[in-house]
Amino acid sequence: MNLARLGHTCVVGLHWGDEGKGKIVDLLTEHFDIVVRYNGGGNAGHTVLIGNEKFALHLLPVGVLSRDRTAVVGPGVAVDLGRMIEELDALAARGIVVGEHLRISDRAHVVMPYHKKQDMLSENALGAKKIGTTARGIGPCYADKMQRATAIRVADLLNENVLHEKITRIVERKNRIFAALYDDREPLDAEAIVAEYRGYAERLAGNVCDSTRFLLEAMDAGQRLLFEGANGTLLDIDHGTFPFVTSSTTSAIGVPAGAGVPPQTIQACVGVTKAYTTRVGAGPFPSELHNEIGQYIRDRGHEYGTTTGRPRRCGWFDAVAGRYSARLTGATVLAVMHLDTLSGLEQVGVCTGYRTPDGPLPGMVADAALLEQAEPVIEYLPGWPEDLREARSIEQLPSTTRRYLDRIEELMGVELAIVSVGPERTQTLMRK
Ligand code: GDP
Ligand code: IMO
Ligand code: MG
Repeated sequence: MNLARLGHTCVVGLHWGDEGKGKIVDLLTEHFDIVVRYNGGGNAGHTVLIGNEKFALHLLPVGVLSRDRTAVVGPGVAVDLGRMIEELDALAARGIVVGEHLRISDRAHVVMPYHKKQDMLSENALGAKKIGTTARGIGPCYADKMQRATAIRVADLLNENVLHEKITRIVERKNRIFAALYDDREPLDAEAIVAEYRGYAERLAGNVCDSTRFLLEAMDAGQRLLFEGANGTLLDIDHGTFPFVTSSTTSAIGVPAGAGVPPQTIQACVGVTKAYTTRVGAGPFPSELHNEIGQYIRDRGHEYGTTTGRPRRCGWFDAVAGRYSARLTGATVLAVMHLDTLSGLEQVGVCTGYRTPDGPLPGMVADAALLEQAEPVIEYLPGWPEDLREARSIEQLPSTTRRYLDRIEELMGVELAIVSVGPERTQTLMRK
């Protein structure tokens, strides 16, 4: 893969999130001018390791770590301004002052305290049927966006009168809903919220812009854009394992709408996947391993959520789901991460099909209940005892490991371009 020649590119996770998108975006950033988040919000957790320094970003695009690149938070992002400021301050304390390199769309919707509250109340009320959200207010914020009359956009924050009117009206309504639906006895204080968000507006006013115009003009001027997908394709609101999904268009299909660029903008798409599969929260996961191998992967891969710290569910590489996602999202190349984590297993499995008592499923079907019942068809390949973390080219990998990669590439139907054998930048093997 010739990085210097890549056109506007997106990086998208092919399973249920945490595939290692942060590392890939960080690696690619130097070849682009602008890094753009187009979906999700504080539910994302993108980890980047630079030398000994670890950064976990939730709202800021990974591009903020490269001091001379512009980072854009597009209209499709659910922006939690308080958390974003915390992230900016934490970076500044480590010597990274983002300043004007960050542009926030005035069209983006704002996550409000009642969204986070509603997220928790709704989950608690669902009990065993809960989605297992990150409690970051994502679903309620996007629901208000669709509802329109109860939505607050970044642009609203800049007008004190508009903000006051909206927050007072909406909070009064939310308090009534929470009391009626959830027997909630702790109403939110509208005046306190207005004051809090006016403070955020003052702090970030210089970063707010018409990011749509900004990106269109940047492209006209020949600048190259890198789109940083959040969550994963199987968490997509329309195409994921509904209802166990997030509330945005996570796949590359979301780029035009969420960033504000024409559909034909995307020239390349890096589909990111682990060498095995993980998921956090509830929902179908046919190749999940409920045994010591699942625990082995969790321990070796440090599979605990970047955002919530929850243990991630681990399983064999799901090629059925992966192929579906790669096709849907238009992956032009594949990045396989965490290959090092699988070292030491006698054999490694790949899920090549789903079957139910009534027969095989045709693939990633719409019915989550059917997927919950599905048994995986597992193909086993020989494992490898070797530690891969020092490998610096694909040719240096053991032949069994290369066979495994070849099989993944074949099942996914997408050219393998990047293999990762550790969290650091140097632990990346590029196929020539
Ligand atoms: P993202 O949400 O897709 O950006 O992924 P996360 O940051 O939530 O989770 C990926 C985790 O795996 C992070 O802790 C990364 O530092 C780490 N990581 C990325 N690539 C590799 C790899 O190849 N091997 C190992 N062992 N860790 C990796
Ligand atoms: P990154 O960008 C992993 C999951 C949650 C839950 C479901 C809905 O780090 O890959 P939400 O809070 O969005 O309403 O939760 O989606 N989820 C993620 N899982 N990585 C993510 O982001 C996720 N974002 C949401 O665990 O199951
Ligand atoms: Mg993550």
